[in-house]
Amino acid sequence: MSISKTTAVSVIGAGTMGNGIAHVFAQNGFKVTLVDISMAQLDRALITISKNLDRQVSKGSLTEEQKKQTLANISTNTSLIDGVKNAELVVEAATENIGLKLKIFEDLDNYAPKSAILATNTSSISVTKIAAATNRPSKVIGMHFMNPVPVMKLVEIINGYATDAEVTSQIVQLSRDLGKIPCVVNDYPGFIANRILMPMINEAICSLYESVAGVEEIDTVMKLGMAHPMGPLQLADFIGLDVCLSILHVLHDGFGNPKYAPCPLLVNMVTAGKLGVKSGEGFYTYTAGSKDLVVSPRFK
Ligand code: CAA
Repeated sequence: MSISKTTAVSVIGAGTMGNGIAHVFAQNGFKVTLVDISMAQLDRALITISKNLDRQVSKGSLTEEQKKQTLANISTNTSLIDGVKNAELVVEAATENIGLKLKIFEDLDNYAPKSAILATNTSSISVTKIAAATNRPSKVIGMHFMNPVPVMKLVEIINGYATDAEVTSQIVQLSRDLGKIPCVVNDYPGFIANRILMPMINEAICSLYESVAGVEEIDTVMKLGMAHPMGPLQLADFIGLDVCLSILHVLHDGFGNPKYAPCPLLVNMVTAGKLGVKSGEGFYTYTAGSKDLVVSPRFK
């Protein structure tokens, strides 16, 4: 079997990653069912997808007609059982919580057709562990998209211990068909993207914690010196400081190496609820509707 535009695709979870993934599949002609237990979350996701498509229309990279067709390709469902019963490919993008993901994969294994490939967008949870919650570990694979999904070219494809080579090659081809660039990696803590990204972010936070430099200086050095589109502290805010902390815990626990120990400042900020863009404050403060980047008063 190969994955084509006639393949029924279900995306589980209508948060930032889930709506981005649904957007990209639908824009490339796939019929997508977006599944979330919350109808309000599904409604918000459709509004976000529509706004992001408007951006593309106003930039001239998409026509009004293509926008309409993309939205028409997306349906929503609040029931996991109904939402995956005909799916040949499921991409799970629920909250990054291991207990939740294991339960979802147990359910997907029960309710999706036996032939369906089950992919996870996890950023750091072991694909092998997720696969072990199912009776089809050879059909479970990591398909790690980057945020913002419609813009970022990479799909990090993670082979679990038991992933079948045929499944990997189908997901590689699918990623190309979605206009992305796939990179296949093996299932070890943090895979490649976060094994390299998170220690850099952690080091930036430690540099701030040790007063080596301020927020703007650290980000400017990395933006102008290394041509990164965002400095590491702004990127940490964008990803979510809670997500960064949880990935560092995965690296620290998984390798048992103190070099991955999260900076105490990061731990404090997460404990205090300063999670970055999503909470309105991290290293910078964020006001809805404003693109200005203002350093948090805490770090001035
Ligand atoms: N949907 C569709 N298009 C979007 C979009 C979205 N959600 N967000 C931005 N765009 C488009 C804009 O329309 C614009 O298009 P053109 O190039 O055609 O003009 C382009 O993206 C750039 O956007 P902006 O002009 O608004 O802003 P910018 O130039 O500052 O770029 C950014 C924004 C793309 C987010 C850029 O800052 C960037 O690349 N940042 C780094 C992102 C990154 O590193 N992501 C990975 C995070 S790690 C991760 O996701 C994995 C993990 O496991 C933690």
